Amino acid sequence: MPFQVSRKDAAAVTFALASLAWIPCSIAAGDPAVERGQYLFTAADCTSCHTDQKHKGAPLAGGPPLVTAFGVFFAPNITPDPNFGIGKWSEADFHRALRSGIGRDGTYLYPVFPYPSFTHLTDRDISDIYAYLKTLKPVAQASRASEIKPPFGWRFLLWFWRVLFFREGTLPSVPGRSAEWQRGRYLAEAVGHCQECHTPRNVLGALEESRAYSGNPTGPDRQDAPNITSDPSSAIATWSVEDVTQLLATGQTPDFDFVGAGMAQVVKGTSALSEADRHGIAVYVKSLPPIHTEKRPKKPGGPT
Ligand code: HEC
Ligand code: HEC
Repeated sequence: MPFQVSRKDAAAVTFALASLAWIPCSIAAGDPAVERGQYLFTAADCTSCHTDQKHKGAPLAGGPPLVTAFGVFFAPNITPDPNFGIGKWSEADFHRALRSGIGRDGTYLYPVFPYPSFTHLTDRDISDIYAYLKTLKPVAQASRASEIKPPFGWRFLLWFWRVLFFREGTLPSVPGRSAEWQRGRYLAEAVGHCQECHTPRNVLGALEESRAYSGNPTGPDRQDAPNITSDPSSAIATWSVEDVTQLLATGQTPDFDFVGAGMAQVVKGTSALSEADRHGIAVYVKSLPPIHTEKRPKKPGGPT
C-alpha cells in the first residue's frame, strides 16, 4: 500500500546486499520441495524487507525501516524461532499470511507486506517456501514494532481497505496465450511482485490496476520506478524480449547502463532464475498494453 512516500534506506541496503552475497544456510540437500522453495524465496526477494542488511542483521530476523506515507514499518522476524519468529506457525498459518494477508493471531497485515501479489502464488509454491524457511537458522530476536500514524494504526481499518482493493486468489490462466507467457505472468505478478513498484498507487496506497506497469515516480525509496509498458515515447517500446531478459540476468540495459537501487536488488533475485524463467517474464512484460505517461527526467538509479 503506502509506498508513495518511500522505503527509506533501501538503496543503501541494496548495495550492501550486492556486496554481501548472502547465502541462506543449511539447505536440506536433495529435498526437492526445499530446493523449489529456495528458488521462489530468492525470486520473491523476501530478504530485502525481512533482513536489516545495512546493519549486518541476522538473516530474516527483522528488516530495515520501510518509510511510507502511513508510518514506518519493520518487517518482522520470520526465522523458525518459536518465540520471536514463525517457529510456532503451522503450514496453514503461513498459507493464510501469504494468500490472505492475515497473521497467526487473526489480525490483518498491512499491505506493505506485498500479499496483494503473493495471494496469486499457488498452494504448492507457498508450501515449498514454508518448507525452505523451516530449514533456516532460528534467531531469537524480537521484531521491532512498526510506528504507524493514526488512524492507520488501527488494524481493523484494514477491513475496509481489503474490501475496496484486495482480490484474493490465484491467477486464472488466460486463453490464447502460450505456456511461456502464462509462466512469465505468474513470475511477474505473483512471485516477483513487479507491480508493487512499477504500478502507480492511489491515495490509499492501492495499486491502480488500470495503469498497471506505467511506472511510479514516488516508488519505494523515493525512486522513480519507470514505465515498463511498450509505449513508444515514455516506456520501453524499443527494448526486445532479449533486452529485458538480459536486464533480469545482469542488470544491464540496452544502452550499457546498469539499473540501480531497488531494481538492482530485484535483479539479485531474477539472476538466480533459470534463463527460461527470465525469458518468460520478458515475454510477458513485452506483451503489456502500452500506457502513455509524461516523460520524466531520469533520476540517477543509485550508487552504482
Ligand atoms: C516489500 C517488503 C516485503 C517483502 C518483499 C516481503 N515482506 Fe513479509 N512482511 C513485510 C512487512 C512490513 C510485514 C509486517 C506487516 C504487518 O505488520 O502488518 C511482513 C509480514 C510477513 C509475515 C507475517 C509475520 C508475522 O509475524 O505476522 C510473513 C509470514 C511474511 N511477511 C513472509 C514473507 C515472505 C515468505 C516473503 C517472500 C515471499 C516476504 N514476506 C516478502 C514486508 C515484506
Ligand atoms: C523494489 C521495487 C521494484 C520492483 C519489485 C521491481 N522493480 Fe523494476 N525497477 C525499479 C526501479 C527503481 C527501476 C529504475 C532503476 C534505475 O533507473 O536505475 C527499475 C527499472 C526496471 C526496468 C528498466 C526500465 C528502464 O526504462 O530503464 C525494467 C525492464 C524493470 N525494472 C522490470 C522489472 C520487472 C520485470 C520486475 C519484476 C520481476 C521489476 N522490475 C520489479 C524498481 C522495482
